Amino acid sequence: MKFYLDTADIKVIKELNQLALVDGVTTNPSLIAKEGVDLKERILEICKEIDGPISCEVLATDHKKMVEEGLEYHSWHKNIFVKLPCTDEGLKALKILKSKDVKVNMTLVFSPMQALACAKLGADFVSPFLGRLDDTQSSGLEILEQIIQIYENYDFKTQVLAASIRSVDHVVNSALLGSDIATISPKVFKKMLKHPLTDIGLAKFLEDYKNSQK
Ligand code: E4P
Repeated sequence: MKFYLDTADIKVIKELNQLALVDGVTTNPSLIAKEGVDLKERILEICKEIDGPISCEVLATDHKKMVEEGLEYHSWHKNIFVKLPCTDEGLKALKILKSKDVKVNMTLVFSPMQALACAKLGADFVSPFLGRLDDTQSSGLEILEQIIQIYENYDFKTQVLAASIRSVDHVVNSALLGSDIATISPKVFKKMLKHPLTDIGLAKFLEDYKNSQK
């Protein structure tokens, strides 16, 4: 499973990229707003740091403007994936952008049928939002499982990108279900590689050795 960082914070992207485990980055308008930066400038900074898919979301809500924005983002860098919301307008824009060979990540996906429609129209990535589904008393992981099963049934090439991940368990279960990608917040990313027994074990090894040298 590929690990993407779900952030527009360039400092943290650079810090976590030192582990060489970051395969790509997803951003959205809220994440860009949080940084208070210029969209193009920040996306290009991220492209310079991470050599993998970088998702940049359109701001328009009608398909013609989405296509215009998408084509502009596409012209900025070869690794940019245009993120489109899974609305009727977004689906229309998806069809047009795919006919122009633009890479597309369909976002705000909450149901297997939305995911099936995205795959039929040739989306490169589909992003089901696990945490936000959990918030509505449904199960994000169940929806993820159904999407993966449907894609397997019909051998779709669309990759499943588990998004809105809130916990290390979400990451583990996404991997168990066979999600192609998980996009992970820096907070969860930092947590998921740690285990208290590793730290305790290391301290004990070093202490034992030190004591033996006295
Ligand atoms: C995905 O690409 C989105 O940016 C993200 O995962 C949304 O997560 P949230 O529900 O934590 O905002």
